[in-house]
Amino acid sequence: MLAGFAALVGGCTDRQDAPSETPSTATANPVDTPVDPLAAMRWEVRSAKASPEAATTLIAGAEGVWSCGSCHGAEGEGTQQIPALAGLSAGYIAKQLSDFATGQRKNASMHYVARRLSEAEMAALGRFYAELPHDSPAGASLGGNIDRGRELALEGDWRVSAPACYSCHGSSGWGVGPTFPAIAGQQPVYLYQQLTAFASGQRNNDPENFMHDVARVLSDADRRAVADFLASRPPRQEKRSSAAGDHPRSARASQAHQTNQAHQTNQASQANRANGATRQTGTEE
Ligand code: HEC
Ligand code: HEC
Repeated sequence: MLAGFAALVGGCTDRQDAPSETPSTATANPVDTPVDPLAAMRWEVRSAKASPEAATTLIAGAEGVWSCGSCHGAEGEGTQQIPALAGLSAGYIAKQLSDFATGQRKNASMHYVARRLSEAEMAALGRFYAELPHDSPAGASLGGNIDRGRELALEGDWRVSAPACYSCHGSSGWGVGPTFPAIAGQQPVYLYQQLTAFASGQRNNDPENFMHDVARVLSDADRRAVADFLASRPPRQEKRSSAAGDHPRSARASQAHQTNQAHQTNQASQANRANGATRQTGTEE
């Protein structure tokens, strides 16, 4: 574990490197890249054995380290195109970190962060954020039609072959096991961008390409509608794990958040502009 921390500290001194570090992952993979359908389950088992304390240093960051909290927020709440992590399942989180590291899921900032993590650290980070309470919904911000969003989430729309989101993501959008992530209460800009990325094939790290088939039949207005509806729904309240005692939230996480916020927001928006450009080159629908 210490070796992993040292690598993270030693290798992360210059954040300006990130976008240019990943030229080979900037283009979309073929949509038929096989994805292990049990990957999130395997990570869940691993995370259950990991210690959430082992993730605290990574989350708070140290001199020269990209702290998770500096982008994802001190409470794991996310903002704009940066997702909330609090309350997602451990296996889902760890699988995403692994996918960012290998380039199966493409994002310059997260590739740069994740490729420095050991598997044990990914598992510990998953457990840490899974046990962090997600207190309030992000709220709608895209001007989407909430009634239409509710219809898509609860019932789907057979006229366009859209299945109900909740048929996979759970009857409140709180996720099902480690494979189907919670989407209720998530950041609306992030939700909208992921739907667009799934539709174009820019994101294709889900088993069976489920999300490509779902997202490609939705119009832009439908993506905004469902993203806004989901963002306005309450996030999952109950804790994911019965681990006793206080969650090892670090005071240093909020410190790092305050001091790095301006810098990181700038970094994140740069990275996202790069991603946006990539996505636009994909064939949509
Ligand atoms: C420079 C900003 C930045 C830092 C630092 C950062 N992230 Fe991220 N993270 C992002 C962005 C932006 C995304 C959305 C990527 C996309 O659009 O696909 C993301 C996505 C994720 C996701 C996917 C969540 C989901 O709902 O699918 C996970 C998990 C994650 N980050 C974990 C972490 C962890 C753990 C750390 C610290 C070790 C970390 N991140 C550090 C910016 C950052
Ligand atoms: C057939 C099952 C299925 C249906 C129906 C479905 N999803 Fe998904 N969705 C998935 C799976 C599986 C993933 C996890 C992808 C991964 O492993 O990276 C996912 C991931 C997502 C993500 C990414 C979450 C994150 O944190 O990054 C979003 C957003 C999403 N789905 C939205 C929707 C919406 C909106 C609908 C309805 C219009 C919907 N899904 C319907 C299976 C489904």
